[in-house]
Amino acid sequence: NTKIQVIDKEQVKLEDMKEAAQILKNGGLVAFPTETVYGLGGDGLREDAAKKIYQAKGRPSDNPLIIHIADMDMLGKLVTEIPEKAKLLADKFWPGPLTMIFQKSEKVPLGTTGGLNTVAIRMPNHPIALALIRESNIAIAAPSANTSGRPSPTLAKHVMEDMDGKIEMIIDGGAVGIGIESTIVDMTSEIPVILRPGYITKAMLEEVVGKVEIDKAILSKNIDKNFKPKAPGMKYKHYAPKGDLTIYEGDIEKVVDAINRIAGEKEKEGVKVGIIATEETKDRYKAGNVVVVGSRKNEAEIAQGLYRVLRDFDDMQVEYIYSEGFTSGQLGNAIMNRLLKAAGYQVITV
Ligand code: TXA
Ligand code: MG
Repeated sequence: NTKIQVIDKEQVKLEDMKEAAQILKNGGLVAFPTETVYGLGGDGLREDAAKKIYQAKGRPSDNPLIIHIADMDMLGKLVTEIPEKAKLLADKFWPGPLTMIFQKSEKVPLGTTGGLNTVAIRMPNHPIALALIRESNIAIAAPSANTSGRPSPTLAKHVMEDMDGKIEMIIDGGAVGIGIESTIVDMTSEIPVILRPGYITKAMLEEVVGKVEIDKAILSKNIDKNFKPKAPGMKYKHYAPKGDLTIYEGDIEKVVDAINRIAGEKEKEGVKVGIIATEETKDRYKAGNVVVVGSRKNEAEIAQGLYRVLRDFDDMQVEYIYSEGFTSGQLGNAIMNRLLKAAGYQVITV
């Protein structure tokens, strides 16, 4: 059975991590909070631990894991080379919601990297995650702690829903801060390439290292041979609620009208409907179960609430979900990338 350990993230002591660290040393799995989403951790240098992670998530094993470190010494052991630009980005953004791709050293098994010769590495900015890495002295491989295809967990409760009985321990450190996964940047080419958008934006990266490119597959559903995403995980249907999600984009007045119309029609058919609304629009919806994801004045709040709202609709057993689009602001790319994937790219422009 899965043990739950509650820890106050404001008062983390290394000794609180003893049991969790021991589980990792034995090759077992521990879910823990990071500042982005909850991670499902195992020893990143052991093939058997990686196998268990894939099994617990039901994740295809060609989809590589991110290794979490607590200091730059650990990085040196996992990669063959640290490019100058990566040093600059690490200085500026680590610990933080940035994952960088490097050429892997021999220490990192192919079982962790999905057969790739590169490895994804991140230094999380969360006292529990850092304490767990330090106490165990293990480079922790951790994908998001959700069942493959489901929304990533932003609360320990979400991890319980997906992982209860499948892993040894869950550390409950409360709600995460950011709510969407880290920005992934490939540092193996001269010009860094963003493979997954996140809280750290292109502009923030370019301020430190100059030109940065974006993998074209990120905001496109054209995942064909021209736009094959470089992060293998980006090709799978992902973050998906059980209900059928459609995004409505365009002038907000028209969006509200269109959602009201379709939600009304569906309800007449006797179907349960959910609506993802904002503080600004919530009172204007006349049908459906209206859930507020946040305020348009605070996009960080929308990022933080997105996965929770999708899971809440699962609990409510909603069959159809309609959402406003969120393209504006610094986080617009990151939020829309998740929402589009959750919707299987069903978008109606009004
Ligand atoms: O915020 C996060 O990054 C969270 C927390 C737990 O740290 N982790 C996370 O891991 O989102 P996961 O496994 O759900 O997503 C990892 C992504 C996948 O899309 C995977 O394909 C990509 O990183 N990735 C991992 N290693 C890679 C590599 N060597 N080359 C390209 N993409 C890689
Ligand atoms: Mg994930």
